[in-house]
This record gives sequence, structure tokens and C-alpha cells, in this order.
Amino acid sequence: MKQIIINGTNTISGEIAISGAKNSVVALIPAAILSDSLVKITNVPKLSDCDSLEQILLDLNCDVIRNKDTFVISTMNMQNKFISNELSQKLRASYYFMGSLLAKYNHVEIGMPGGCDFGTRPIDLHLKGFEQLGAKVTVLDDRIILDAPQLNGTTINLEKVSVGATINLLLAATKANGITTINNAACEPEIDNVIDFLNNMGAKISGKGTSTLQITGVKKLGTSQIAVIPDRIETGTYMILATLLGDLKITNTNPIYVKSICDILKQMGVNIEYSANEIIVHKSFNNKPINIETNPYPGFPTDLGQIIAVLMTQINGQSTLTENIYNGRTKYLVHLSNMGADINLKDNVTTINGPTKLIGTTVEATDLRAGAAFLVAGAIAEGSTTINKADLILRGYENIVEKLDKIGINIIIQDELDKNLTPESVKKKKL
Ligand code: EPZ
Repeated sequence: MKQIIINGTNTISGEIAISGAKNSVVALIPAAILSDSLVKITNVPKLSDCDSLEQILLDLNCDVIRNKDTFVISTMNMQNKFISNELSQKLRASYYFMGSLLAKYNHVEIGMPGGCDFGTRPIDLHLKGFEQLGAKVTVLDDRIILDAPQLNGTTINLEKVSVGATINLLLAATKANGITTINNAACEPEIDNVIDFLNNMGAKISGKGTSTLQITGVKKLGTSQIAVIPDRIETGTYMILATLLGDLKITNTNPIYVKSICDILKQMGVNIEYSANEIIVHKSFNNKPINIETNPYPGFPTDLGQIIAVLMTQINGQSTLTENIYNGRTKYLVHLSNMGADINLKDNVTTINGPTKLIGTTVEATDLRAGAAFLVAGAIAEGSTTINKADLILRGYENIVEKLDKIGINIIIQDELDKNLTPESVKKKKL
């Protein structure tokens, strides 16, 4: 495992270019296999999740040409087969292969999905939707099996707004007989990216950007090209960092995707300027306390909750963060308290009193976004902070060490010290 060591600083400056969105590309790659031909995906971020999905494509005998930020994928020689747990558990988004393989072959055998550990992460909405489309769902200890001699369009009313279920059912419905309507669909921009990719392939999907999607099944899907949209969570992460240490110009992004974050920061008194694809955030003092609730898009994203909690520790007064998506997304609070934050958690409401000085220490990335939060905390803390299990951070932030170093943050990444290494064991090794 890797560890990141980051030293607190007083200021940053310069600019950061945003990469392609992790939560978009991890759906686009599984969607690619729906094509009966060749597809091209550009602006692909260099993330370990993309490596894991490439492994699954190769395991399915797809031909993949990957160079720099581009994937070219051909399904001419593709074969359907069991996707092992070794491959499927590397990330949550492996489960998108359920929807695309079901649509393409009417049969899927896949190991369990992985993903960040913040409490239970059920996939009942996905499986119920597949059943409504006509699939027989069998869940065994080590795999999920879906069988559907024929998928038939239907109306699916999602009980909860779910990004994953919306995308998975979209994929499954592209070649179903007739029309499928998904009500209470999620509206994240990443879903629009997938819809554009599929419609370029010849799919017939309407309702983009709304909570009602309509898919008219088609027989064939051909070539397609798509650019991965900018990562709105990466953008928000650097906006929050800049509020604390700015000024920072964030380029290659889309301010529309981060409207909820802009609104919140402006409410706090932060000075933000933006153009079509750039955002400038100025270091901001005397910010006002704030009460934030996380919600599905276009609400404030759960993925930025832990990161804005760090900003709350520096605000004079009492702020609250109400987490409405994942109740288990609180493991990071212990580490933040150990750094000196004044935090109280009751049910799904985190109350933070500030300002408190944060002191560098050793912490552990309990999930991807907690790791990012500790980077922001370490950047403003007194002294040095070591973040263990930093591989988690690299799953969602392309070149984050290089990007932070370039704007003036003192940061290194290295292998975690082998816990078995002790002076005695070293001595023995020498002998
Ligand atoms: C996606 O996860 C993102 N991951 C998450 O980002 C993000 O936090 C989440 O959407 C919410 O925006 C990817 O896109 C790969 P959901 P997903 O289905 O699709 C419940 C990150 O850090 N639910 O929208 O798994 C679920 O428990 C990651 O980048 C069910 O009950 O999330 C949650 O409470 C973390 N049954 C809520 O719905 C289901 O079948 C929303 O989950 C599915 C979900």
C-alpha cells in the first residue's frame, strides 16, 4: 500500500487542470461492450479503476488499444464469460457489466462488486429492475447470475434515486423489446455522458437530464466516440482547498456541474469567478458558518461532504453537515478529531465548531473521499501528516500528488513502511 506525506502550508497558487470524471468513465467502459463494432473514449483519466476495468475487457476477449487518455475498444472477438471476484471486487462499478452483458448476451455471471467501505451498499434496486425487464436473478455466494431469454421494455419506478441503478437499467434496456421508462432516475451529469455515448451508438434514449428516462430498444448498436466529462468532485475538492489556501485557477472544468458547491461557498462569503470552463477561487477569511445537507444531483454531493467538513473546522462558529446518502460515511471523523477538530456526530448530522488548529499526525484513508479530505486537512495542518492506504485516493484523483506539488504543496508518495519491519528483523536480515 502507498502512503502520502504532506506538510502544512500557508498558501498555494497557480492553476490545476481537471481530469475526466471517474464516475463517468467507470460507466462508459462497461457500456462500450454494447457496441457490435468499435468505440473510442477520450479524456480518460489515468486511474486504477480504469486499469481494473481494462482488465475485465481483456478477460472478455475484447480488443483494447489504450494510449495516454484514449481507449479504443473492439468487441469483434468478444466472448461472454464469468467475471471473477478477483476482477469484480476491485471496484464498485464492475457491476455495470451486469447491465451491458445482459443486454448483449441475455446472460451474465459476475462476482460481487467492490467499492468504498462506508456501510452497506445494496444493489437491490439494480436486481429488481433487471427482474422487471424479464431477467431471472440468482445470487450465489460468489456470483450473481442473470438470465433473460428476452428482455421486454417496462416501466420501472425506482424507490430511491440511485446513480448506479439508473445507469445499469439504462444499459440493460438499450436492446430490450419495446419501450422502457425509468421513473425517479438519477440526474447526475455522468448519466448524461453515458446517454450521449449510447445514443451515438444508435440507442434511442430520451429524457436526458431529467428524472424520467425513456429507452426504445434497438437491435444493433454500432460505432461511437465520446469524451469523458470533467470530474465535478475533483473540481469541488480543489475549490475547497483554494478557499483555505488559494488563490487557484481551476481549468478544463464545467462550472455548471459544481453549481451547488459554488452556491454554498458564496453563501459562506467566498469570492469565486468563472467562465465557460474555468473557475477562480480566492483564499477566503472570516467565512460564515454553514449548514449543508447532501443530496442527489443537483444537490450538494455526498462525495464532497467529508472534504467540506475540513473547511468547516476553520470557520468561526458552528456548522453542520447532514449526510442523507450514506449513513456509514463517518469513519473519517475519528481521524479529523485526532488532528484537533471539534466534532460531534448524532445520527446522520455532524456538528463542527471552529476554528480549531489542526495538527499533523498519521491517519488512514477510510475511503476515497476521506483520503482526499485528509489531504486538504494535511495541507492546512501544523507539521506533517501521513496518510496511509493512500492507494484509495489514487482511484479517484488523477496525478493528485503532481497537481498539488505544482501549486506549492510539500507532498510525497511512497510505499507504506512494511509493518513487519522492526529493528530486530532488519538486524536478522543483515545477519
Ligand atoms: C455512485 O455510487 C458514485 N459511484 C458514488 O461515488 C456516489 O457517492 C453515489 O453515486 C451517490 O452520488 C460511482 O458512480 C462509481 P447510488 P452508487 O446507487 O451508484 C442506495 C465516489 O467516492 N441504494 O446513487 O453506488 C445506496 O445505499 C463514490 O466517487 C440502494 O438502497 O450510489 C445509497 O444510500 C462513492 N439500493 C443511495 O441509494 C441500490 O440498489 C444512493 O446510492 C442502490 C443504491
